[in-house]
Amino acid sequence: MEYFEITGGTPLHGSITLQGSKNAALPLMAASILHPGRTTLHHVPAIRDVDVMIEILENIGCTVQKDNGTLIIDAAKAEHFEVAASLGERMRSTIILLGSMLGRAGRAKMPFPGGCIIGMRPIDIHITSLGKMGAVFEETDGMLCAVTDGLCGTRIHLRFPSVGATENVILAAVYARGRTRIENCAKEPEIAELCRFLREKGAKIEGEGTSSILVEGVSHLRDSTYTLMPDRIVAGTYLFAAAATRGEICLEGMRPSDMESVLDVLGRMGAVYENREDGFYLDGRKAINPLPVVCTETYPGFPTDLQSQLLATLCVARGRSVIRECIFEERFRIAPWLNRMGADVTTDGREAVIEGKEHLSGQMVKAQELRGGAALVIAALMAQGITRVYGSAFIERGYEDLAGDLRKLGAVISKKKAER
Ligand code: EPZ
Repeated sequence: MEYFEITGGTPLHGSITLQGSKNAALPLMAASILHPGRTTLHHVPAIRDVDVMIEILENIGCTVQKDNGTLIIDAAKAEHFEVAASLGERMRSTIILLGSMLGRAGRAKMPFPGGCIIGMRPIDIHITSLGKMGAVFEETDGMLCAVTDGLCGTRIHLRFPSVGATENVILAAVYARGRTRIENCAKEPEIAELCRFLREKGAKIEGEGTSSILVEGVSHLRDSTYTLMPDRIVAGTYLFAAAATRGEICLEGMRPSDMESVLDVLGRMGAVYENREDGFYLDGRKAINPLPVVCTETYPGFPTDLQSQLLATLCVARGRSVIRECIFEERFRIAPWLNRMGADVTTDGREAVIEGKEHLSGQMVKAQELRGGAALVIAALMAQGITRVYGSAFIERGYEDLAGDLRKLGAVISKKKAER
């Protein structure tokens, strides 16, 4: 198994350019199969999840040219609207192909996404919503199958503002007959990105960023070119790493307007920041304050995908902090690993209490999922001594070059392969 080896104790300094957003790339790649023509995407991150999605698109019958951060997807010959079980097991979010497969071909077949280490991850909101539009579902040989003889626009109220379900309904509504109004929809920046991308292709969509999105069905889309937004979760990861190591960094390409709740938390911890000509600058030298309580919420609240990174950073704050994870049910899995490094984290269900310590100590720890793995790297960066973070493959699902970026910021980190 491969691992990151990190010698902690060096405050981060310097500047890096942010990768494109994983959670925008995946829905936009799924959306590209709606159009039997070409879609060009720039600033696509070179990460494992994108590679899996490319394989899925090629299995569907698309051609995908990859050149550095650009993908040219031609879906003219797409005909096999299925996702192989082997591919679905490698990436949970294949479920967002449901809406575009039904919209393009009236059928879809894919493995159930199933739960993952951070929670059950049900898809009831996807099924109920698409069912209201005329999709019929059944389970065949453990696979989720959907068919429709034509999707119809309607009013859909999501019981919870699920990001993936909002994306699936938008994709299904693009060609549906009539108007689809989605109420209590997700407001994440990646939803707005998907709507802007689809409008570029000729879709009729309004309301993104609010709790109500209206889609007017159209009969066709057009070739388009689009440049992806920066990854706000990768940006937040680096900002917390700078705060944790009491360093100062500058992120080129960051969109502060996507991250107000994250910047508010960093400010309350004592970090200072400003948006400059050459990028977003954060000074974490005084980021020592504990936080009485932080709750993860749907956007624009504090994002669950940065909860683990905040948890790690608060392990060396000057006092007691509390984090409540209100989105996923199992997202404190790194607590035992942090405690093994000398932290004092007590978890009870969806609440973690963190008693800040003077320092952490290097240890051997194991990433079990993407964002928790990135958080363990942050802990290693601020620990005294050497830490090995096993399971680097989990981290590479979403971070283009975590070790390379951190080295540019002065960290002592390298990727190694465990001897057999
Ligand atoms: C997206 O996942 C992101 N993934 C996740 O990021 C992110 O954590 C999540 O949104 C929340 O912001 C991508 O965009 C590819 P949800 P998604 O549907 O769409 C429950 C990362 O690290 N729910 O908003 O799967 C669900 O169980 C990943 O990049 C239902 O109950 O998230 C969860 O508790 C991790 N029924 C909550 O809603 C449903 O039908 C949020 O899920 C759907 C969801």
